[in-house]
Amino acid sequence: MVFGKKFQKYYRALRRRTIGFQYGDIWQGKNAEKWYESTDSIYPLVHNDFLNYLSDKHDIKSVLEVGCGPGVYPIKYKDIFEKFEYTGIDISKSAIEYCKTHSDFNFLCDDFIQIDFPKKFDFVFSRSVIDHVYDIDQFLLKTVNLTKKYAYIYAYRGFFPTSENHDSKLDKNGSYYVNALSKKQLEKTLLKSGLDKTEFIIRSQESGHNEWNIGTIIEINKI
Ligand SMILES: C[S@@+](CC[C@H](N)C(=O)[O-])C[C@H]1O[C@@H](n2cnc3c(N)ncnc32)[C@H](O)[C@@H]1O
Repeated sequence: MVFGKKFQKYYRALRRRTIGFQYGDIWQGKNAEKWYESTDSIYPLVHNDFLNYLSDKHDIKSVLEVGCGPGVYPIKYKDIFEKFEYTGIDISKSAIEYCKTHSDFNFLCDDFIQIDFPKKFDFVFSRSVIDHVYDIDQFLLKTVNLTKKYAYIYAYRGFFPTSENHDSKLDKNGSYYVNALSKKQLEKTLLKSGLDKTEFIIRSQESGHNEWNIGTIIEINKI
């Protein structure tokens, strides 16, 4: 057991090392406006689902967005987040530099899986981030741990209700991970986190995007 934990830590450190310092830039490049345009048209149905989800949560004050990239939500959709105390975190230096120069919200450049936050947040969300992290279960456990009330995690790369385990591979250039999330393994990890099975839902969601039409949404509602 002890060996198991040590091995996992070592394995995680090894996987983390492969992603390098410019993680994130591979998608967003230096042109945030282009990224905004493309993500707008990529996921219209998910965007609507997210807005519907938020619209009936009236007890949210503090919000953490994980893997905020160049700030589609806090900058392009600033009007939605103005009423919250929003914090965005991303491992990509250039994405966070962009956010800091275009917004007054709070932004941090760090690895979400490693960082120690001094406080929890009413609402934690991420879009298309769990698809590329180097440790899916740790990402999920950290999200649960930092959530006071609600969390909403969207994964765009499919919905896999029958797979026993997650599938996680480096992309062909070795610069980031491409993950396929097993619903069964997600369930096990959420139960292991201490959540009751009534406190989360894992469901499929159409995005409206041609290639990646069916994704996974994890909703957490702590009672
Ligand atoms: C596909 S992009 C999505 C960006 C943004 N959420 C959006 O939808 O426009 C994935 C983002 O996750 C960030 N990311 C990946 N692993 C991370 C980690 N361990 N900690 C913080 N950010 C991470 C990447 O840097 C990148 O900005």
